[in-house]
Amino acid sequence: MSVAGHAVVMPKGHIPGTRAVLVSLREITSETVRQITRLSVSPEQQRFVASNAISLAEALFSPNAWYRAIYAGESPAGFVMLYDESLRTPPPPNPQAALWRFMVDTQFQGQGVGTAALEQVIAHVRSKGLFSSLLVSYVPAPGCPEKFYLRAGFRHTGRVDGGEVVLELSLNANAPLTSSTLLR
Ligand SMILES: CC(C)(COP(=O)(O)OP(=O)(O)OC[C@H]1O[C@@H](n2cnc3c(N)ncnc32)[C@H](O)[C@@H]1OP(=O)(O)O)[C@@H](O)C(=O)NCCC(=O)NCCS
Repeated sequence: MSVAGHAVVMPKGHIPGTRAVLVSLREITSETVRQITRLSVSPEQQRFVASNAISLAEALFSPNAWYRAIYAGESPAGFVMLYDESLRTPPPPNPQAALWRFMVDTQFQGQGVGTAALEQVIAHVRSKGLFSSLLVSYVPAPGCPEKFYLRAGFRHTGRVDGGEVVLELSLNANAPLTSSTLLR
């Protein structure tokens, strides 16, 4: 389901007739940055993603960083950061894009927020018309997000980078995620 370009998810245990939640990507401001740095994953998941404070600090020093907060309704629910080589000055002839950081706070996980946010990130990357694919890599360990990405259309590349398994989403052939994937 989509409303004005934003994905809508039904909260877990959704009761028909009750309100759906709009998932959106928003710029982080001086008013919201503390809320975003307070978002966290479970202790077991901390090996898969840096804290948002670290990611934002790295973004300060990287010309390739594009980042947004993920909101579920009006609640800050997660964080996403792209490694986007087209942001360099000047950009390389064949820039690459990769999902650098992606997290949904523990209390919002398992409700479709991650899938809806990923759909919007993919739409953003696709809309730039500069990339043939979007890369992501994950630490291969119990509880890793491999299935989450495979379900979103990413495929194994056979590459391992710094111990992380590299997946790729082709932006040429396949249609983006459909709204039906959001409502399971
Ligand atoms: C991966 C993550 C962003 C997914 O966000 P989310 O909001 O929980 O995702 P969704 O609710 O849209 O989940 C979609 C499906 O993927 C599954 N899924 C989500 N995370 C998963 C994981 N780590 N392993 C296996 N399946 C996972 C969900 O169970 C769900 O399937 P279901 O509907 O059959 O239950 C979130 O779990 C997270 O922040 N994990 C910790 C940090 C992390 O691993 N980030 C990625 C770094 S590369």
